[in-house]
Order: sequence, then structure tokens, then C-alpha cells
Amino acid sequence: MLAATGHAVPKRVFTNHDFASIGIETSDEWIRERTGIGQRYIAGEGENLTTLCTEAAKVAMQRAGVTASELDAIVLGTASPDRLLPSTAVEVQAALGASRAVAFDLDAACSGWLYSAQVAEGLMATGTFETILVIGGEVLSRIINWKDRNTCVLFGDGAGATVMKRSTRGRGILSAYMRSDGTLADLLHRPKGAGNAPVTPEIILEGSHYIQMAGREVFKNAVRSMADAADRALDGAKLSATDIDLLIPHQANIRIIEATAKHANIPMEKVFVNVDRYGNTSAASIPIALSEAHEKGLIKDGTTVMFVAFGAGFTWGSMVVRF
Ligand SMILES: CC(C)(COP(=O)(O)OP(=O)(O)OC[C@H]1O[C@@H](n2cnc3c(N)ncnc32)[C@H](O)[C@@H]1OP(=O)(O)O)[C@@H](O)C(=O)NCCC(=O)NCCS
Repeated sequence: MLAATGHAVPKRVFTNHDFASIGIETSDEWIRERTGIGQRYIAGEGENLTTLCTEAAKVAMQRAGVTASELDAIVLGTASPDRLLPSTAVEVQAALGASRAVAFDLDAACSGWLYSAQVAEGLMATGTFETILVIGGEVLSRIINWKDRNTCVLFGDGAGATVMKRSTRGRGILSAYMRSDGTLADLLHRPKGAGNAPVTPEIILEGSHYIQMAGREVFKNAVRSMADAADRALDGAKLSATDIDLLIPHQANIRIIEATAKHANIPMEKVFVNVDRYGNTSAASIPIALSEAHEKGLIKDGTTVMFVAFGAGFTWGSMVVRF
């Protein structure tokens, strides 16, 4: 059961108009038309993945009435950890003082929170875990190439946290679906700069340690995979589109969101959209949206929500949750 959520974003807002100030040839019109994005948050000095995730976690824990010592596990979905070793999850554990919790990162790119929630559900099914903090967080601004207009206009930073507890009957996760296809890994990746090709001055000069993306191919795959995931979510829960009160899709691009909703027969009035204000925050996008939906009073006792995600890997999946 998703007991409570919280989110946090950096202080600095970076609008589409701000790209002119860093010499990027683009326009508000181009970005809005193609993606629906108007602004994003960008981490500054003193802000990193640990601080954002910790802030989001504190809000979720306070809303759930859960203390740090009650946490059995912390699962952090991220593709932009503060350090490659150790995990950012252990840094969040230390910052919260959650001394009993096992903590680990899970990298499924933009599907990171959705995968993490399903892994947490599995941990709870073992009977040893009662209360788990599931976070999706990213500081993508530090792994994108700020000279590449194909990618730098799309992404943003932030974190969303969820406190999960063991479900009571008829509530919680009604269906869960996860898929991956590693044959398409090169369409959205960081080619170099890790174990396969450790950082050299040449790599830094060519910028091949930053995210690179074949935009059109990613777009087509996202539409196809999210449609598949939406179908599986309903089939798995034995529900029809009209049973869904709210669709919370991964917030990458308004056109992908609209295509997913249309395929699933869910009217846009029932679709939560905040990509205009956050950009694509990858693993953070769904939990930030869920936290905002909670704050807006869109989720009440008995509300049925469908989540659909897609990301690098490729990874994709879905979940239907009754609150
Ligand atoms: C990236 C994306 C917005 C590009 O939109 P598109 O409609 O495919 O763009 P097009 O192919 O029509 O246009 C590309 C042209 O715009 C230019 N362009 C790229 N970025 C630009 C920008 N920020 N501003 C202005 N022009 C830009 C390109 O250089 C290219 O020009 P060229 O044809 O002269 O080479 C779109 O492909 C997309 O959203 N893909 C999915 C990305 C995504 O969501 N990834 C994460 C998934 S989790």
C-alpha cells in the first residue's frame, strides 16, 4: 500500500527562454510544441540527489506518521547517483538516521520508481519487511550535455518519495507489470565514462560521458511500450478503462502522454500532467506527480490509479493501485 508521498525540487527554475543565455539555439515555441515542456528545476550549489531525496522522504514520512527507525528498507530508483560507489540510497539512509533499513539503488532509468515499488512489494511479500521507503530521484542536469539541444531541453531534476506498507485486503497494488529490452540499449544511453570506457580527457572533450539519445526512435518505442503497459495493467487488475479514476504516466513528453491515454481509452481529464513545469525528471517523474495529485486532493480512499512508465534500457511497466 502506498501510505503517503512527498516530493522536492531544486530552488532554481530554468525556463525555455533561459536557454538563450547559455547559447543554445532553440525557442520556447519549439520546445513546447514538440514536448509540452515550459520549464524545469535545476540543482545548484549545495543541492544533489541525496539532499533532494532526503527532503522528499521527510515529507512522505511525516505524512505517513512513520519515523526513520521504523523503516525496514530504502529503495531508490535513479540513473544519476551522486557517486558511482556507494549507492545514493545509503547516503539517504545516513541523512535520515534510518539505521535499521537496508538501502540500495535500482537503475531502471525513467521506470526506476515503478520498478522500485514493485520490488518493495516483493520484499514485503517475504514477510520480513513491513515499511519501505521507495524513492525516485534524479539530478540529470549533471549528466546531460548542456551544448546538445537534442537532449538538454528535455530533462529536469527532482525527487519523489513514497512510504509503502503491507497492503490490507482489496487495497494496494492490484496489478503489476515490468518489461525490459536490452537490445535497444544504444538508443538512449551514456556511451562512455564508466567501467566499459573509463573517463579520459578525450571522453570529456567529446562529451561521450553524457546522455545521448536517438529522439525519434525513443519516441516511437515509448508510445508502443506504454500502450502495451497500459493494456497489461488493466488485464492484470481485471478492470476496464472506466474503472480508472486517474492515470499517472511517466512525464517525458505531452505527445507520448496523449498517445498513451488515447490508446487506453482514458480521457485527458483523468490524466495527471505536470511535464510543463518539471520537464522529464526520469525516475522522479511519477512519484512527483503522485505527490502533487495527493496535494490537489485527487486521491481519496478507494481511488484507483494507473501508473505507466517507460525509460532507457529500454525498460517499461505499469501498475494499478487502489488507495
Ligand atoms: C526529441 C524530440 C522532442 C524531437 O522532436 P521531433 O519532432 O522528433 O524533432 P524532429 O525530428 O522533427 O526535428 C529535429 C530537428 O530539430 C532540431 N532540434 C533538435 N532539438 C532542438 C531544439 N531544442 N530546438 C530547436 N531545434 C531542435 C534538430 O537539430 C533537427 O534539425 P535537422 O532536421 O535540421 O537536423 C522527440 O523526438 C522526442 O520527444 N523524443 C522522445 C524523447 C524522450 O521523451 N526521451 C525520454 C524517454 S524516457
